[in-house]
Amino acid sequence: MTQTALITGANKGIGLETARQLARRDFHVIMAGRNETSLKAALQQLRAEGASVASVLIDVSKEDSIQAAAGELLQQGISLDVLINNAAVLLKTDQSLSTQSADLLAETLQTNCFGALNMVRHFLPLMKTPGRIINVSSGGGSMTDPVGGWSPAYCVSKSLLNAMTRHLAHELAERNIAVNAVCPGWVKTDMGGAGAVRPVEKGAETPVWLAADAEQHLSGKFFRDMREIAW
Ligand SMILES: NC(=O)c1ccc[n+]([C@@H]2O[C@H](COP(=O)([O-])OP(=O)(O)OC[C@H]3O[C@@H](n4cnc5c(N)ncnc54)[C@H](OP(=O)(O)O)[C@@H]3O)[C@@H](O)[C@H]2O)c1
Repeated sequence: MTQTALITGANKGIGLETARQLARRDFHVIMAGRNETSLKAALQQLRAEGASVASVLIDVSKEDSIQAAAGELLQQGISLDVLINNAAVLLKTDQSLSTQSADLLAETLQTNCFGALNMVRHFLPLMKTPGRIINVSSGGGSMTDPVGGWSPAYCVSKSLLNAMTRHLAHELAERNIAVNAVCPGWVKTDMGGAGAVRPVEKGAETPVWLAADAEQHLSGKFFRDMREIAW
């Protein structure tokens, strides 16, 4: 039976490539994005490649946008096997926690953390059992690696996303919904930049594995290259 996955920030980068790879694996993919024009272009691109895809407008930084989209899909009778919280921002002015405005951290957390959390809260009624939630995190959020010294608000947001992943996994275990975090590595996208070492296909590999192939009992864990890594 065809499985359905919803991916936030699916109009470009790792989100778009994850949508492409899951569609090739016979998933029906609901591509979520905040920009109608680029979302439509991405949708048409994947349709032209033969993918079974639909789109929904979601700005993850706005809870009412998430709530409206969840209500719309619920009315259409859509249920989800997989939810991938991929959308995130890394602000160019994010240089120093001690000197920059706290608003920058708040803006980053609003998208990267509260966005993902609100997606889970509002889409939970649409989730099937067993189900899978995948939070696209970053090695920058590691609490064991040395601090890298780059984009501190972004890195803090990924530490919080990882912490939320553990707690959500615990809470949703009784519903048999696996919740995991993934570091895609340093990937050539608008966010990763031209100097990044990984092609976008490689960046999507572990999110796709967690959505389609990983054993259901794996939950509350952090993965890179299809292997568990330390928090
Ligand atoms: N690239 C890397 O090296 C790297 C490394 C580690 C982790 N990651 C993670 O991988 C994920 C994907 O990143 P990427 O490299 O593909 O970056 P990207 O090309 O910049 O794509 C980011 C996506 O997030 C969307 N987005 C941002 N704010 C949003 C909002 N409020 N509502 C809805 N969508 C929003 C963007 O939409 P717009 O087009 O509308 O802006 C875009 O679709 C992120 O979680 C990122 O933190 C990336």
